[in-house]
Amino acid sequence: MTNRTYIKDLGQHVGETVTIACWVDVRRDQGKMVFFDFRDMSGKVQGVVLPSATEAMESAKEIRTEWVLEVGGIVNKRPERNIQTDKQNGDIELEVRSIKILNKAETPPFEINTDTSGVGEDVRLKYRYLDLRSDRMQKNIRMRDNIISFIRAFLHKEQFIEVETPILTKSTPEGARDYVVPSRLYQGMFYALPQSPQQYKQLLMAGGVERYFQIAKCMRDEDTRGDRQPEFTQLDLEMSFVEREEVMALNEALLIAIVQTLYPKKKIQQIPFPRISYKDAMEKYGIDRPDIREDKNDPNLLAFCWVVDFPFFERTEKSDNPDAQGDWTYTHNPFSRPIEEHMTNLMEKKDLGDILTTQYDVILNGYEIGGGSIRNHAYDALAKVFEILGHKTENIEKDFGHMLHAFKTGTPPHGGIAWGLDRLIMLLQNEPNIREVIAFPKTGEGRDLMMDAPSEISEKQLKELGIQLKK
Ligand code: AMO
Repeated sequence: MTNRTYIKDLGQHVGETVTIACWVDVRRDQGKMVFFDFRDMSGKVQGVVLPSATEAMESAKEIRTEWVLEVGGIVNKRPERNIQTDKQNGDIELEVRSIKILNKAETPPFEINTDTSGVGEDVRLKYRYLDLRSDRMQKNIRMRDNIISFIRAFLHKEQFIEVETPILTKSTPEGARDYVVPSRLYQGMFYALPQSPQQYKQLLMAGGVERYFQIAKCMRDEDTRGDRQPEFTQLDLEMSFVEREEVMALNEALLIAIVQTLYPKKKIQQIPFPRISYKDAMEKYGIDRPDIREDKNDPNLLAFCWVVDFPFFERTEKSDNPDAQGDWTYTHNPFSRPIEEHMTNLMEKKDLGDILTTQYDVILNGYEIGGGSIRNHAYDALAKVFEILGHKTENIEKDFGHMLHAFKTGTPPHGGIAWGLDRLIMLLQNEPNIREVIAFPKTGEGRDLMMDAPSEISEKQLKELGIQLKK
């Protein structure tokens, strides 16, 4: 439509004839006149069909909510007593002269012109495209886009580049179960979907990229909860030639800029973000992601903090990894570097339980919204970590040979972080779970109710993949 006016701009066209393209949000038939609320991606406006518009009136009588229309009309100022100052376009009204029906709609399974958070979630997820039309969901996905655009612009200004990394890859030890994809060409072999781009981003540092970021999809086959999805989005970044302080400072500046620019009504409790050691957090709050808000009833209060000085290793009864049946496992990330004072202990395998890592987690209102570390870029030291974790020498080569080799070829010192973007957006939008800020989330049981996934595949597909199902 070349002559379309967006609803948000109607106020600039008082007295003019315009054409809008829209959905019917509300229809009120008052007999002689029919009132509508029309809705497009930019907002809503009230329309009225007067008895004099005979043809439009004929359509207006038939039209129902969610029908899609092209409406021609005149933008009128409302009389003083009808002005609604708190409403978008509350001072104008569209006097409808013509209606073209672009598509009809069945009666929707739930009301779209109200807040849908009270509607059963299974129905909302099955008809997600309808749910997305609602005000609150539109705001959520549009603010999500604002935040991501802001991040991209900020990081580009800081000389980062965005690099995509593969989705079909190899298992990474991020601590959760992998989703695997069978290979047709190499039967009996599998790709793994990335739990994070951790190894790739470090290999990008080996590749001379120096400042990388990515809005990255990550897949983890773990139990779903309010702040956890099997498929979620990270802001993933990595920097070369940096110390812990520089990574933390950059991320803190970005978080503050997002809040101050896009959420000016919100208040950050403390700047710079307070730092708490893992030990103090456990002693004082009994948890490593403390909610330090001074007023937990204030929906606009954002209490960020950093948690640092995590132990590198912890004792394990029995690891899930059959190759790592050692007595020790890592607490966060095997690729992290211990703090400088503890490097000797690592190399001499002394007092392993006391070794602290350079890991830093960023916490917001009691949620872990991100975590990262300075990496162990020295070949010997990383090999030592895998040895302590109980990996057999031949498996270290097989599983991590590419990383270890890269570190022998001139990889700069580097470090980075990944934010759980869904969690951050959930908190900024005051939503109770991350599904509300993801366009097409999975249910608590990991199902996509709209697409009906996971689903069976055909005999032919199975055969091509060389897979036989156990009956
Ligand atoms: P980590 O595993 O801590 O670190 O993940 C980073 C952040 O991602 C979020 N997150 C999730 N969000 C939604 N659903 C999930 N299932 C889920 N799992 C994690 C959290 C978490 O803080 N490669 C490292 C980062 C690094 O060291 O640079 C990593 O992935 O907010």
